[in-house]
Amino acid sequence: MALPPGSLGLPLIGDTLNFLQDSQFAKKRHQQYGPIFKTSIFGQPTVFMRGEEASLFVLTNDNQYFVASFPASMKALLGPLSLSLQTGANHINRRKLMYQAFQPRVLVGYIGAMENITQRYLEKWEKMETLTWYPELKNYTFDVAGKLLVGIENGSETALGHYFETWCNGLVSISLDLPWTKFGQAKNSRKLLLAELEKIIRARQEGTLSGKDALSLLISGRDDEGNSLSLEELKDQVLLLLFAGHETLTSGLTSFCLLLAQNPDVMAKVRAEQQQFPATEPLTLEQLKQMTYLEQVLREVLRLVPPVRGIFRKVINACEFGGYEIPKGWMVAFGINQTHQDSQLYPEPERFDPDRFSLERSPKPFSYVPFGAGLRDCLGKEFARLEMKLFAAKIVREFEWELLPDQDLNLLAIPTQRPRDGLRVKFRRTTMNR
Ligand code: HEM
Repeated sequence: MALPPGSLGLPLIGDTLNFLQDSQFAKKRHQQYGPIFKTSIFGQPTVFMRGEEASLFVLTNDNQYFVASFPASMKALLGPLSLSLQTGANHINRRKLMYQAFQPRVLVGYIGAMENITQRYLEKWEKMETLTWYPELKNYTFDVAGKLLVGIENGSETALGHYFETWCNGLVSISLDLPWTKFGQAKNSRKLLLAELEKIIRARQEGTLSGKDALSLLISGRDDEGNSLSLEELKDQVLLLLFAGHETLTSGLTSFCLLLAQNPDVMAKVRAEQQQFPATEPLTLEQLKQMTYLEQVLREVLRLVPPVRGIFRKVINACEFGGYEIPKGWMVAFGINQTHQDSQLYPEPERFDPDRFSLERSPKPFSYVPFGAGLRDCLGKEFARLEMKLFAAKIVREFEWELLPDQDLNLLAIPTQRPRDGLRVKFRRTTMNR
């Protein structure tokens, strides 16, 4: 059987530089070769695939044909005990324990703190009047993650927030550990981050700080054999949660703010829906569930600009897909973004159209995968959906914003999607009558 079409590029370096620098890397090659092609990135021959069948094939064959795998830079920065790097029974066991912090009844308890932090930021932005939103949203999501995951206040202003920035910048990079490379600096930040996390965890274990947050559930959690997480593992898992819990959300919220500014008709419909709810009372889970149009809008935001553009797996058993051989030892990159852009699944895929998600037209499960699917789907997806919805409802009720001229709105892709100039807006309290 033939290998997929495509080229492995230059020896060793392959197509790595193009992959890192060109946000249209996969799109261009799919246009040239079709739904499956081969290339070589990060020193590994890699098969890129997209579409509903590829989604089903890659995401439901974990441990059978594939295991999770990441570029060397990401592996080193996440740390050996991170859930993301676990496979097989160990992964299932750890996931079960960590899920305790993301169960629906735990999430309900997060709403009050989420709402307070959101309100604080909205008022801050009102005072600023004009702002570059992406870094602000990053501070906001980090503060929420810091509070709800490890119980710290204003996390973005702490040493933790500062080191995170450098750490994130090295995640998808060439893993050359030198003081001036992105990777070298990120590795140093990892050491500093772990030291900070150790202080927080020890204080919690010694009982000097209490908290109703994910960390306390992780500390008290036991696996099926009754074992608790060691200090070393707690540090790696909390680091993963803090990262996964804010970087992706920042991208999702930035896209929401951008797309609503560009689509005033959608904004008007979202606002009209909000007028059905009392403005003054704190939001409840029940109310959030009733906001069905907002739900469609958020789903469409994550379709059009999925924060995570693709999922990597290592091939542990040779297999075939689409009439091509996929050799053992190669990598597979499943394109979330490219699947969401498939015109057979989503007519006029580049158009922002929340009605795609109306009840009658809802897409099939494996064609819509912003949170992945299968054994490794996003552990925090309900947390993410809650935060996005709460943020969106509050901001639309009370505020309005418009894009400032002369800015580059083209998307950067790594580590998550965001406009190149960070989304510059004018922000004010809305004058629309409720
Ligand atoms: C809009 C926001 C988010 C998006 C788009 C997103 C997307 C994803 C995707 C695509 C995966 C699957 C990766 C794979 O199959 O290899 C994933 C995994 C994961 N996500 Fe999220 N995520 C979001 C928010 C969050 C939040 C808020 C948390 C935690 C607080 C979180 C925690 C995780 C964890 C721990 C995993 C690894 C699961 C595993 O390997 O078993 N994510 N996420």
